[in-house]
Amino acid sequence: MSTLEVRIEEPVTFVISGATGDLTRRKLLPALYTLFKEKALTQNFSIVGFARRDYDSQSFRSLMAEALREHSRVETDDASLNAFCEHLSYYRGDLSDPTAYAGLKAQFDDGTLPANRLFYLSITPDLIEAAVTGLRAAGLITPPHSKPWTRVVVEKPFGSDLQSARALNCALLDHLDETQIYRIDHYLGKETVQNILSFRFSNILFEPVFNRTYVDHIQITAAETVGMESGRGAFYDKTGAQRDMVVNHLLQLLCLVTMEPPDGLEARSIRNEKMKILRALRLAPETRQHPAICFGQYSGDGKTNAFREEDRVDPQSNTETFAALRMEINNWRWAGVPIYLRTGKRLARKTTEIAVQFKTPPLSLFQHVACKGDVCDLTGVKPNTLIFRIQPDEGIFLQVSAKRPSMQMVVESVNMDFSYSGKWPKDLPEAYERLLLDALRGDSTLFTRSDEAEAEWEVIEPALTIATRHEPSPYAPGSWGPTEADAILLSSNVWKNE
Ligand SMILES: NC(=O)c1ccc[n+]([C@@H]2O[C@H](COP(=O)([O-])OP(=O)(O)OC[C@H]3O[C@@H](n4cnc5c(N)ncnc54)[C@H](OP(=O)(O)O)[C@@H]3O)[C@@H](O)[C@H]2O)c1
Repeated sequence: MSTLEVRIEEPVTFVISGATGDLTRRKLLPALYTLFKEKALTQNFSIVGFARRDYDSQSFRSLMAEALREHSRVETDDASLNAFCEHLSYYRGDLSDPTAYAGLKAQFDDGTLPANRLFYLSITPDLIEAAVTGLRAAGLITPPHSKPWTRVVVEKPFGSDLQSARALNCALLDHLDETQIYRIDHYLGKETVQNILSFRFSNILFEPVFNRTYVDHIQITAAETVGMESGRGAFYDKTGAQRDMVVNHLLQLLCLVTMEPPDGLEARSIRNEKMKILRALRLAPETRQHPAICFGQYSGDGKTNAFREEDRVDPQSNTETFAALRMEINNWRWAGVPIYLRTGKRLARKTTEIAVQFKTPPLSLFQHVACKGDVCDLTGVKPNTLIFRIQPDEGIFLQVSAKRPSMQMVVESVNMDFSYSGKWPKDLPEAYERLLLDALRGDSTLFTRSDEAEAEWEVIEPALTIATRHEPSPYAPGSWGPTEADAILLSSNVWKNE
């Protein structure tokens, strides 16, 4: 048994379209190498890199060996690297050329390549239709529910708005069955994200209070300290924070933390429950004092560039590098509970977390307690907060109030911690390792279904429209975004920045 506790016995060919790109080099090949090294794959597998650049199989292997030395999380000794690279080959072609696939088809037909095929489309969304049309025209897509099987993994972003997501779904479903399509959102492959469901539904303590009676509000934050390093400027200027992070990662986290218990753990049950949330989710109505949205763009500080000064970014760009939204779920469980989403580049700290803040208990019992400083002001009996830390310092933390050892009644907020590194010191598997294994096993639970992908865009469309009409507010690098973001918070809510 592999150390990843899964072993795929079926022979398989991975065809990676976009094999000379950044994602292949940094994530896909390292993930496949780990699966190989940890013996999660059979010996009978092939990886075909497909792209236009002028490589042959030998030079492609050297390129990938170098990428693995730089990015692999497991040891890259020469013997293992050489053994792995023997499974690699390069197929040069333009995927929008319908004749480009003939040679690939011949390699499947003459048995050079294992017949089960996983096409990984590590390409921009505008190329996806051409890619699947070409695969189909070349006879490379086998019928659904048959052996040998065909599966197609589609990278994010899934379109750039509702209309393009619908068009992309139509193009994919013209050539493939939904069961053959794996729309990837790598956040869902993270251990900590999967743990949201097990934590919620395998403990009796929390689920009874996960509702509007006890929860004051929820904050979901995905903050990055990086800006446009590694040449991402051109891509990001066209995309922005909402399309890059909110429409997929943050909405998926929101669904997992608010959905009803599914009737099983299989893909259909979980996706059905997520869909119910997406249908009930909307941008909260704004009030006179409280807008529902804030967009920002980072400025420079003499040491780092402003967004508009970044390489391959329009100097007049109004693209948002920060977005904060107040959402609400119009259903029985969550009506009236504000859900704040916040994401941005060049913020104070790298963190992705979900904070569920409960309501303040009735405090009359403590009314006559003498308090000193912030250790015990009565509001210092802080409301309980449950934090799912997705990355880094993965774990789950519960803030509770407790009596400080003292002759006086002094109440202080303390943490009950569960950290992954404390309990399981081994590295957590990379999200792409998990998701590739799931696609190989035919398990689509952690991938986005067509209706989910469209519903996510539908939810976010009003905010996208507002963004086109507003110039983003500037914010200092290393801050928590524009101060205007505070205005979207209701009543006594404050951002959780610690
Ligand atoms: N990079 C990341 O960290 C990351 C993270 C999440 C999602 N993604 C998504 O993953 C996809 C790939 O991203 P990336 O960063 O790897 O992009 P990239 O570095 O720009 O690579 C694009 C790849 O597509 C190939 N390509 C472009 N046009 C082609 C054509 N007509 N025929 C054949 N191959 C073609 C390029 O190869 P040639 O130039 O050699 O043809 C290159 O290998 C994008 O959808 C991106 O949004 C990336």
